[in-house]
Amino acid sequence: MEVERVQTIAFSSILVDTIPPEFIRSEKEQPALTTCRGCIPQVPTIDFSDPDEGNLTRLIAEASSEWGMFQIVNHGIPTEVITNLQKAGKEFFELPQEEKELYAKPPDSKSIEGYGSKLQKEVEGKKAWVDHLFHNIWPPSAINYQYWPKNPPSYRAVNEEYCKWVQGVGHRLLSLLSLGLGLEKNELKENVGGDELKYLLKINYYPPCPRPDLALGVVAHTDMSCITILLPNEVQGLQVFRDDHWFDVKYIPDALVIHIGDQLEILSNGKYKSVLHRTTVTKQMTRMSWPVFLEPPSEFAIGPLPKVINEKNPPKYQKKKYCDYVYCKLNKIAQ
Ligand code: OGA
Ligand code: NI
Repeated sequence: MEVERVQTIAFSSILVDTIPPEFIRSEKEQPALTTCRGCIPQVPTIDFSDPDEGNLTRLIAEASSEWGMFQIVNHGIPTEVITNLQKAGKEFFELPQEEKELYAKPPDSKSIEGYGSKLQKEVEGKKAWVDHLFHNIWPPSAINYQYWPKNPPSYRAVNEEYCKWVQGVGHRLLSLLSLGLGLEKNELKENVGGDELKYLLKINYYPPCPRPDLALGVVAHTDMSCITILLPNEVQGLQVFRDDHWFDVKYIPDALVIHIGDQLEILSNGKYKSVLHRTTVTKQMTRMSWPVFLEPPSEFAIGPLPKVINEKNPPKYQKKKYCDYVYCKLNKIAQ
């Protein structure tokens, strides 16, 4: 079956200056009608190089409880590592369509890995203005190189390099978030799978869209991961939902955007909030982003941590295996 990618649709849409009806969101979702402009509260920006660990822990715990999202600057990943990763990802998406299709997610595959567009239409039969590539980057036992582009030839090396650095940021975040729950530094990591914790990379490719007022990139969702470490390109587009409104998350050069995902909300028994977010698209520019999802191994069970619950704070979530959680979420079955 031939699947039409958004990148191809975008190309012909620009010529006619309209978009196919399945990309036009309902009025409840259209970004032009639902984005709050003017006096905009901003997600917190946190200096990750702050030598005062107590202060850093407090800032991260507050941002995770109040927003479920924050940006970190001075994260320590060298600029070159980031620009190389972004260049290789961009070169992959600029390859001829037939070459990208070599990495397409097989229709019968149970894993999320591979190149594609979201195949099933959402409720109301709408489609998202974005293509993607998913592949695991850690641990080595989870890696399927068949989904790592061979072109550009630098792709593997630059991804392996980024993986090393992003793990450093991930471990540090987990230990600060652990301290923020009143636990020992390493406790949270142990409770999300320890050394088996999986790092899943996604590249989002949002082509220019003639009607950015009517379409959305990824639609409103919370991430299923523990945490997500997202690297955007320079094009504005991420939005966060707070106090019943959608707000732009300002693009900050050299920052990483951290999302609290569903598993961390569950582990913390609701102290940290899994953040509702979505993305908009633009008329002239291609937006790209590289989220890395930190996920428990699929058979690993996640529930509220015994040390955070007590009589006054009884468990609000069921304990279940991560794979069962994912199954319910993807099939819209109550957790
Ligand atoms: C996602 C996501 C946001 C972005 O892929 O889960 O939320 O900025 N992406 O691209
Ligand atoms: Ni997301």
